[in-house]
Amino acid sequence: MTSTESRPVVRIEHPEDDKVYSTNGRGRTFGEIIARRLSRRDGIKGVVAASALTLAGSGAGLVSAQQGTPAATTGLKFAAIPNASTNETVVAEGYQSRPLLIWGDPIFADAPEFDVMAQSAAAQARQFGYNCDFVGFVSLPMGSGASDHGLLVVNHEYSSGELMFPGYVTVGEPAEGEDEPTLTFNVSLELVDVELEAHGMSVVEVIRDEAGQWSIVLDSEYNRRITGTTEMELTGPAAGSDLFKTNADPDGTTVLGTLNNCAGGVTPWGTVVSGEENFNQYFANSASLEPDSVQALSAARYGLPEEASDRQWESFYDRFDLAKEPNEPFRFGWAVEIDPLDPTSTPKKRTALGRNKHEGHTSVAIDGAPVVIYSGDDQAFDYAYKFVTAGNYSATDRSANLDLLDEGTLYVAVFAEDGTGEWLPMIQGEGELTEANGFATQADVLINTRLAADAMGATKMDRPEDFETNPANGKVYLVCTNNSNRGVEDNYGIDTANPRAENIYGHIIEITEAGDDHTATTFEWALFITAGPTDDATTDYAGFDKSLVSGFGSPDNITFDNLGNIWISTDGNKVDDANDGLFAVPVEGDERGYSRRFFQVPTGAECSGPVFTPDNSALFIAVQHPGEGGYFEEQVNTWPDNENGLAPRPSVVVVTRTDDPTGPIVGA
Ligand code: FEO
Ligand code: CA
Ligand code: CA
Repeated sequence: MTSTESRPVVRIEHPEDDKVYSTNGRGRTFGEIIARRLSRRDGIKGVVAASALTLAGSGAGLVSAQQGTPAATTGLKFAAIPNASTNETVVAEGYQSRPLLIWGDPIFADAPEFDVMAQSAAAQARQFGYNCDFVGFVSLPMGSGASDHGLLVVNHEYSSGELMFPGYVTVGEPAEGEDEPTLTFNVSLELVDVELEAHGMSVVEVIRDEAGQWSIVLDSEYNRRITGTTEMELTGPAAGSDLFKTNADPDGTTVLGTLNNCAGGVTPWGTVVSGEENFNQYFANSASLEPDSVQALSAARYGLPEEASDRQWESFYDRFDLAKEPNEPFRFGWAVEIDPLDPTSTPKKRTALGRNKHEGHTSVAIDGAPVVIYSGDDQAFDYAYKFVTAGNYSATDRSANLDLLDEGTLYVAVFAEDGTGEWLPMIQGEGELTEANGFATQADVLINTRLAADAMGATKMDRPEDFETNPANGKVYLVCTNNSNRGVEDNYGIDTANPRAENIYGHIIEITEAGDDHTATTFEWALFITAGPTDDATTDYAGFDKSLVSGFGSPDNITFDNLGNIWISTDGNKVDDANDGLFAVPVEGDERGYSRRFFQVPTGAECSGPVFTPDNSALFIAVQHPGEGGYFEEQVNTWPDNENGLAPRPSVVVVTRTDDPTGPIVGA
């Protein structure tokens, strides 16, 4: 199909509650199956329709100035683009974007070319993975601050068999009393193996030529795939815990693979901390666990499926079946540190940072002081965390930093009604974290971090996702994507840090640590943006004139440019039925809160992973799950090749100025 043909409209009824993945096997309706697949993103609008718009190219013909004049003081000189929801990417006038790393691209000189009709695990293990999310840029040489040469470190969050594989979906008659067809997923060992290799991370050396064109270095010594089968080590206080022991790993220290890697961060020493988010969906049969066992209590709190998983990996690998390996899920849900500068290094799951649906992980470090890492647990009514290392960062001795994340204090946030807040240390033996309450060791606290935070009375937030410091003003920004269940029925009601019931649009909180010290245990906070349509009385863009701003919903990932403006990508925008996009917003001065849409992703996609090179001359963006909502034989689109492609291909795009591809996107 081409992008100009009309296609059936696929209606996705999205569940309002993403708290629990309960599954009941096969033969469900299309809506049920896809909705569960999507349900990690609470409240996504339920309609995906193929667009009949034809575009000449990225941004062409659709860019028009609107919504006020470009700013001078903030360095944001572009005119906001209007909502142009299409099957293409759109970028503000004066800028250009193109896919740089596309799902299936060979990232080794000897890797096979991508062939969607002849996929294999061996090929995928040598190619760029699926569903790119976090993107980190590590300058080469390390520490040089170079903006024309570096490593891109990319998370591959999950796979979507129905979009990836021909014949994966069988369409049947609607079940009795249903309108929608019943779809069956045709899972096989061969396909599961491809999916395992499509997960994980990619490390790819990239370089810019004198004309400003970026390309990948195919024969780089650094290029690497980390996948769902790569051997990694459990380190820190919980390593070797009895709860980590399995038939394959009686020592409880070695895990195969990392799964559902979502947001992440680059440390000052050039490693990447990647968050394992919705790990629950890979496991099956929690109903088989011994009632009241720690495995069963944990499975309920983390939302592991009671019966078969939608992915059905348990049919092929015992480790995904809780009836056979009740401890395997304890080995996922961690912050994973990888060293992209050492392609032979073993990735490390840093248990000191706790176990949850990890997001964020940008770090703050001053030479000779502890390192601070902020992270969110992306679930409705879950918590915001920070970790402070016991040891000090060394700006001059890289090797001294490589295991800093194994020892320190994990804190969980309490937001008080008066705009103050407190970081509560999660230390076994203190407060409620006693043996009598089920926390006999620090490993118990770290493995069941959510249960520990529950016991401590931390503040239940509206899906804490990215959580980052702004290097320009030292404040910390916590992005709460949404929570449509806030205040609904017997769910928790509003509080001042989560002030809207049925919060379908999300909000961003601005935090000032006491004394501007990131290791402080108290802070002040205020709402920065209460997102949503500008004509909605509950929305607020830092007090800026809403008639001028580009409204957005479901803020998800953020980054900062050199002038301290916040760049916000959305996942489930919902405002004006717009596709997801990237919005630039000043945080200081007269234009604080002046949101403008800079970039928009194709239908079905979320916008994720934005990151600038150090000099802001290039902006990398992950276009994740384009075309989601369709299936192979009925694709919503096949971006980035809407003319001839057979499947959409998640890609990292690079944005540069059109007039000067090596010049700064922001500023002079
Ligand atoms: Fe994978 Fe919280 O988004
Ligand atoms: Ca996300
Ligand atoms: Ca980010």
